[in-house]
Amino acid sequence: MPFDPDAVREFERAGWNRAAATYETAFATATRQFIAPLLDAAMIDAGAKVLDLCCGPGFVGAAALGRGAIVTGLDFSPAMLAEARARCPAIAFRHGDAEAPPFDDACFDAVVSNFGIHHVPRPALALSGVHRILRHGGKFAFTIWAGHDENIAWKLVFDAVERFGDPRASAAPPPGGGFATAADCLRALHDAGFSRTEAELARGTWRHDDAAALLAALRAGTARMAAMIQAQTDAAMPEIVSGLEAATAPWRDGAGIAVPIACVIATGIRS
Ligand SMILES: C[S@@+](CC[C@H](N)C(=O)[O-])C[C@H]1O[C@@H](n2cnc3c(N)ncnc32)[C@H](O)[C@@H]1O
Repeated sequence: MPFDPDAVREFERAGWNRAAATYETAFATATRQFIAPLLDAAMIDAGAKVLDLCCGPGFVGAAALGRGAIVTGLDFSPAMLAEARARCPAIAFRHGDAEAPPFDDACFDAVVSNFGIHHVPRPALALSGVHRILRHGGKFAFTIWAGHDENIAWKLVFDAVERFGDPRASAAPPPGGGFATAADCLRALHDAGFSRTEAELARGTWRHDDAAALLAALRAGTARMAAMIQAQTDAAMPEIVSGLEAATAPWRDGAGIAVPIACVIATGIRS
């Protein structure tokens, strides 16, 4: 299937609309761990005009508001925006596409995006848009999931599906891609015109009762991984679960499993 940005956009939008109501309990337990380091990397402090790009239910924006920033949120999922507006009425949440952020030139001091950029069909357009709406000297900081050598929970899930199921079973259109490593982030930031670019690894752990709960969280709280898990046959699913249960054994303790997760935090300055 050839890359089709419109198909990716509609697939992602439908997926995030579906996930919105369960995102907080299912997936934000992973993504929220990286909000404070992301805001630190963007040097968010009181009075800064900040855009939370791909804001989802608004947890990043709410944390920036807590630091005294003046926050706007942008997302293209109406269901995510409804969650965000209900949670955080003090933030102006706007509907729009990250590929064409609907804001004036140079109107933000900082833009942050937590696990949003890699879902955008053409991330280079989003980065150019961010560059345009930042003031000179303004900072962009974003997170992506790290590669499987560091992001162990993802590796174990993909390995189990590869071994006992079919990772290509879903009808998801091929993603835009290009954002898997720190080097990818640095290159894309540079190409969009950012200077003083940096990328560093941040680590966390994702805790669940067992492997079935980890899979259920991804199924309820994500778009593309949810589609992959959903597409596995009834025959394959028990084997995937037991394969994942065995693979997560090294991270089991008295309370369940606590599997390492990791992301890249990338930053650049609008020169
Ligand atoms: C993994 S969630 C992250 C949400 C939030 N940033 C957080 O940290 O919890 C990805 C979000 O990106 C949004 N998104 C994906 N592609 C987008 C696009 N092209 N334009 C705007 N939002 C997009 C989705 O609707 C979803 O809310």
